Amino acid sequence: MSQKKIAVFVGSLRNESFNRKMAKALIKVSPDSLKLEIVEIGELPLYNQDFDDKPPVEYTRFREALKKFDGVLFVTPEYNRSVPAVLKNAIDVGSRPYGQSAWNGKPGAVVSVSVGAIGGFGANHHLRQSLVFLNVPTMPQPEAYIGNAADLFDDKGNLINDSTREFITKFMQAFAEWVARCRAA
Ligand SMILES: Cc1cc2nc3c(=O)[nH]c(=O)nc-3n(C[C@H](O)[C@H](O)[C@H](O)COP(=O)(O)O)c2cc1C
Repeated sequence: MSQKKIAVFVGSLRNESFNRKMAKALIKVSPDSLKLEIVEIGELPLYNQDFDDKPPVEYTRFREALKKFDGVLFVTPEYNRSVPAVLKNAIDVGSRPYGQSAWNGKPGAVVSVSVGAIGGFGANHHLRQSLVFLNVPTMPQPEAYIGNAADLFDDKGNLINDSTREFITKFMQAFAEWVARCRAA
């Protein structure tokens, strides 16, 4: 089976971001059938429809990069019960110009990570709402709402919680199967 290339998007720009640490942990436990790469979104200018005809180089680079991937994985915090602006901006930039969305048909999955107990449920589902519209078939199960993030990593950013490692290993195996199934269909 050929390796599937997966773009990973982290919805936090914070240096010590738990979501970035989780993204790295997800990459580590991922099966060999997936090749994951974090795609940076922090330098994308705010989406402006006026630029559809003359896009900034950052938009073009991002849209072209996205097209080379077989699937997408979002790892995001919850900001005010929704998706952080930086991630929503990347989604909007990738979705335009109208009719040329770079997201179209790419299988996806969502992991939300929060210091709170609810594990970013609100962000996870707001994001799924956009992904339905963008025709990103998003893995329904297992869901991943990872709470109490401050207790999960050591000071070097390594995941130190065994049950979380076991859970994300199963999650990534399920995602690999989901990508293979969607791509074969
Ligand atoms: C602007 C802002 C809004 C937040 N809103 C929520 C929220 O609605 N729900 C929640 O669980 N945590 C919320 N948090 C706390 C985040 O879960 C916490 O800052 C987390 O560490 C962010 O992820 P990161 O470590 O990857 O940066 C908020 C944090 C910020 C800065």
